[in-house]
Amino acid sequence: MKLPAGAPGAKVLAFGHYQPANVVTNDDLSKIIETNDEWIQSRVGIKERRFAAPEESEIDLAVQAGGKALAAGGLAAADIDLVIVATCTLETQIPNAAGRVAHRLGIDAPGAYDVNAACAGFCYALASASDAIRAGSARNVLIVGTEKFTQWVDIQDRATSVIFADGAGAAVVVPSETAGIGPVVWGSAGDKADAITIKDRHSALHQEGQTVFRWATTALHPIAKQACERAGVDPAELAAFVPHQANLRIIESIARKLGADNAVVAKDIVLAGNTSAASIPLALSRMIERGEVPSGGLALLLGFGAGLTYAAQVIEIP
Ligand SMILES: CC(C)(COP(=O)(O)OP(=O)(O)OC[C@H]1O[C@@H](n2cnc3c(N)ncnc32)[C@H](O)[C@@H]1OP(=O)(O)O)[C@@H](O)C(=O)NCCC(=O)NCCS
Repeated sequence: MKLPAGAPGAKVLAFGHYQPANVVTNDDLSKIIETNDEWIQSRVGIKERRFAAPEESEIDLAVQAGGKALAAGGLAAADIDLVIVATCTLETQIPNAAGRVAHRLGIDAPGAYDVNAACAGFCYALASASDAIRAGSARNVLIVGTEKFTQWVDIQDRATSVIFADGAGAAVVVPSETAGIGPVVWGSAGDKADAITIKDRHSALHQEGQTVFRWATTALHPIAKQACERAGVDPAELAAFVPHQANLRIIESIARKLGADNAVVAKDIVLAGNTSAASIPLALSRMIERGEVPSGGLALLLGFGAGLTYAAQVIEIP
């Protein structure tokens, strides 16, 4: 039996993102539920978020973001032979998202599968894409994080409805002579599975906010440091730190403990809310678009969320 020849490394060629048009401010929410701008900004850091229209699906969001990433990378649909979609808010279990996203983008017969590692999903998908290219199982990979949280959150539950939002971010991953995507550090804490759940198909998202907050602010900075160590990168060399956009206080706490003193820290949550698997590519794509981070600089990505799951890796910014 023969083994395929893989590439020496993999890199992100380009990012793309999409947010639904409908901007929902804290004041908008305070007209529906008992909350206020001061509470949301001081406890979570969000000023506004986007909610998809009822007829706009998580597949629609993914197609928009994926199409933009392909265009930004200058690749045609025919160049892609694997599509991975990270999501935890699909409206239906069958069929998966990846096959439909690929079909809508005109990508002919690629490998197509979904990853559910909740808010860590994009980093899991990125590691899988990189490994597939290095193992010779794929040539060029499109990965998309997409979420329509509004269909799994009860708007009347103010502990969750002010936090979670809709959006998508995508990346094109291609072979590289050098290491454009560092080793992943990933893991899980299944003993805390009950901290964030959707119990059954008739239920909405429930989370034990303080359990998650304590875990995120104590267990994750060592994972971030380990991802730097495994890539041979000093945190002081990072141009950007892009953690999952769960809560501004969590982001600032991890950034402080990481000691990435020269890095631009992603704070996309302020204007995008928590978009789970979409939040990291959405944040980084927008930072690149605004010219906040240098092409060729190093970015540390850190995903974490329900499961509980986490994953981190250093990448070269396209
Ligand atoms: C969810 C979270 C913001 C809640 O903040 P908190 O400081 O833990 O707040 P608590 O749940 O203790 O609630 C404090 C008070 O605010 C109230 N409150 C909750 N949501 C509110 C809202 N949207 N507006 C106003 N008040 C609210 C509570 O009812 C409670 O009132 P009480 O003291 O009268 O009982 C915070 O725990 C958190 O961010 N956890 C991490 C969650 C996370 O990141 N999840 C995603 C992982 S991917």
